[in-house]
Amino acid sequence: MIVIFSRIQSADSAVMSVIQPRNNSVITGRFLTLSLRITDPGIDTLTVSSGKSGRAQVLPVPKGKETFCKVLPVNFRANEIEVTASRSGKIVDTAKIAVSYRSDISNRSGPTGAEFTWKPFHVEEREAACGGCHRMNVTAGDLLPKTPGDSMCYPCHKKITDNKSVHGPSARWECLRCHEKDSKPSRFVITNTEADLCFSCHTGEKVLWAKKKYMHGPAATGKCSICHDPHASPSRYTLKLPVRQLCLSCHENVLNDFKKHSFKVFASVAEEHPIRGVRDPKNPGEKITCASCHNPHASVTPAMLAYEGGSIYNFCNQCHKK
Ligand code: HEC
Ligand code: HEC
Ligand code: HEC
Ligand code: HEC
Ligand code: HEC
Ligand code: HEC
Ligand code: HEC
Ligand code: HEC
Repeated sequence: MIVIFSRIQSADSAVMSVIQPRNNSVITGRFLTLSLRITDPGIDTLTVSSGKSGRAQVLPVPKGKETFCKVLPVNFRANEIEVTASRSGKIVDTAKIAVSYRSDISNRSGPTGAEFTWKPFHVEEREAACGGCHRMNVTAGDLLPKTPGDSMCYPCHKKITDNKSVHGPSARWECLRCHEKDSKPSRFVITNTEADLCFSCHTGEKVLWAKKKYMHGPAATGKCSICHDPHASPSRYTLKLPVRQLCLSCHENVLNDFKKHSFKVFASVAEEHPIRGVRDPKNPGEKITCASCHNPHASVTPAMLAYEGGSIYNFCNQCHKK
């Protein structure tokens, strides 16, 4: 069994070592697993400070616990995680680990130091440190688990679906519908292009969008997860941000250049057109958003207007019925 310990900064008399995460690794999800090996049974308390809360969490260590596992939320870009181990109120060891959370949402991504690289966890030598206590092999039952707890992924990744809007297959913990169980050298990677994966279930959208002449830039890249979290999010349609914030994360200029949306198509009738704060006649009970007028995937016009074509009045009349 090969176990790699990443020791970053610690006293000579090391009594605690970090198994996960590895220093200077790039991550793509909102969570990070902290896994520690404790070799001094006298250690009774850990304090962990991660980017997200800013504050240190004080965690009691049950007597005799040798491996400590804890899931932490992280911030976008670089995060520094600091762990201190104490024995009867005295700090006996400290470790620091830096990770960077890379995002596709442009104004959240920003530059990251070149020292950060992607270091997958699901490779044999990393997983070996967990197998003694966690089930690491995939069985037939993991493909279509009866309850979330039946999925072998659940004990470690349970936070991934802990949100308001959960994507169908993730809600049922059918993780292996999308993650390849036998991929090599690293397990559970997505081997298909995402769009092919998404369209394998969303066949209606595939047909509908293929008929349109224009595809929206980010959707045309085939990486649907630029905007959608394939697992869960606080926003509808498991969008990574609410619609307006999502659009403005790439189209910041909309706020400066045409905040008022005073385009020619409106000019004949009004100086400007409201783009927020009014009801959306297409979605009773909802407020108007960018997606009320623009299709985020495909359209018959280069301005991605959300309608089926013909006269521009067909577009207006969806909301302004005569
Ligand atoms: C609909 C397909 C799909 C399903 C179902 C799915 N995933 Fe994913 N998963 C993805 C894609 C696509 C990515 C890459 C996302 C990215 O790069 O932002 C990903 C990334 C991840 C990551 C890396 C961190 C992150 O969030 O980017 C983890 C961990 C993960 N998935 C775990 C799971 C678990 C556990 C389940 C079951 C509850 C699951 N996935 C179900 C498509 C899926
Ligand atoms: C000595 C046994 C043991 C080993 C080794 C071990 N774990 Fe755990 N792990 C547990 C137990 C028990 C739990 C349930 C929560 C608890 O009581 O700490 C757990 C919980 C977790 C959780 C959920 C924590 C949370 O906050 O929800 C994650 C993630 C995890 N382990 C990851 C790992 C990883 C990754 C490894 C290998 C690097 C590993 N564990 C090695 C015993 C172990
Ligand atoms: C023993 C705990 C454990 C189990 C079981 C587990 N994972 Fe993970 N997984 C991790 C840890 C730790 C990471 C590193 C990222 C992090 O800290 O959350 C990770 C990362 C990933 C990633 C990102 C790529 C990588 O290799 O770093 C994917 C995708 C993923 N897991 C999918 C799954 C799926 C799907 C299952 C179930 C079939 C599963 N995992 C089961 C602990 C686990
Ligand atoms: C294994 C089949 C499957 C795959 C693969 C899949 N989905 Fe889904 N998706 C579903 C199911 C089931 C639902 C929930 C049923 C529904 O509301 O239509 C859903 C719902 C959605 C919704 C919400 C639809 C609504 O009207 O509320 C979005 C958005 C979505 N999926 C996007 C994606 C993206 C993006 C991908 C690729 C990363 C993807 N899906 C891959 C099965 C799948
Ligand atoms: C630029 C961001 C963005 C990208 C990229 C994107 N989507 Fe969406 N998607 C949205 C938004 C916004 C909505 C909600 C539309 C609304 O409010 O009417 C949505 C809604 C959906 C829905 C449910 C309702 C519908 O319109 O059918 C599905 C399914 C879906 N997307 C799948 C996908 C797939 C598959 C891809 C990749 C080919 C993808 N999306 C790429 C932003 C995006
Ligand atoms: C990840 C970045 C990203 C996000 C998020 C995004 N877009 Fe785009 N959008 C683009 C790119 C790239 C283009 C293509 C630009 C070009 O060709 O000049 C584009 C083109 C457009 C166009 C056509 C503009 C033109 O000059 O022809 C409109 C309209 C548009 N997006 C609206 C939206 C709306 C509405 C949303 C939210 C649902 C959104 N976008 C979200 C990146 C993004
Ligand atoms: C009431 C409908 C409506 C709403 C709401 C709306 N737009 Fe527009 N948008 C339009 C129309 C109409 C045009 C002009 C299309 C043309 O010139 O053909 C346009 C143009 C644009 C363009 C420039 C396209 C080009 O041709 O250069 C972008 C980018 C854009 N909108 C983004 C957004 C964003 C981001 C939001 C949300 C903050 C939004 N729009 C909300 C109707 C709307
Ligand atoms: C997604 C729905 C939607 C679409 C599409 C739309 N509008 Fe509107 N429009 C609205 C709403 C909502 C208001 C505000 C009504 C109110 O205040 O009660 C509005 C207001 C207006 C006003 C009054 C502006 C003012 O100063 O109060 C005019 C004129 C107008 N729209 C013209 C158009 C034209 C022309 C088009 C097509 C190019 C169009 N609209 C497309 C929803 C829409």
